[in-house]
Amino acid sequence: MKKSLIAATALLISITACAQETIKLPTPDRAKATMSVMDALNQRQSIRRFSDRALTDDQLSLLLWAANGVNRADGRRTAPTAMNRQDIQVYVCRQDGAFLYDAKANALQRVSSQDLRPHVAGSRQPFAKEAPVCLVIVSDQRQFGPQGSADFGRIDAGYVSQNIYLAATAMGLGTVARAMMDREPLVKGLGLVPEQLLLLNHPVGYVK
Ligand SMILES: Cc1cc2nc3c(=O)[nH]c(=O)nc-3n(C[C@H](O)[C@H](O)[C@H](O)COP(=O)(O)O)c2cc1C
Repeated sequence: MKKSLIAATALLISITACAQETIKLPTPDRAKATMSVMDALNQRQSIRRFSDRALTDDQLSLLLWAANGVNRADGRRTAPTAMNRQDIQVYVCRQDGAFLYDAKANALQRVSSQDLRPHVAGSRQPFAKEAPVCLVIVSDQRQFGPQGSADFGRIDAGYVSQNIYLAATAMGLGTVARAMMDREPLVKGLGLVPEQLLLLNHPVGYVK
């Protein structure tokens, strides 16, 4: 009885620690990617061959900031959202677990200690799990009130997706927007609630 109580307490502590872990990201340094927007547009393309070379924290920080970071003192973002509802959430899946990008704090909040990239990739496009980082774009419909707005959510996700394409290109990295993923295990792994629409994912890495 006493042993099982200790085991249960230890489990609870480890679950709580996992849920609360926050990793502070370095300040995004835009000087690390100086390609012009016009050149990035000219070079943008979908890449489906990734090396397993890891991204640095500096690269991840800049990529996430470009995707959906805060770019003004009032908290608005690099990507627009309908009525400024800021419904888009970006999750980061990598070997050491899955994290929610907290744009205001410039930090990652751990949501899982599992490598969810195989679920992001799905069985039909296994190349995606070779990328060191898979970004997952979600629209939190609660930001639009009780009715939600799936249309606005999908449109808002598109801007973030294009930001990721352009930032990856400017940083010498490759990516592809993907609607394909194993949704059920991914929803479970990320701990999403029904109001959080799982819309797109982006494997990002060096081109193989
Ligand atoms: C909404 C959306 C969903 C997509 N889903 C996938 C996908 O599941 N798998 C994939 O390999 N590419 C996917 N793509 C990438 C397109 O296939 C790609 O953009 C298109 O072939 C044009 O190629 P380009 O991006 O190199 O111009 C998707 C693109 C968009 C915009």
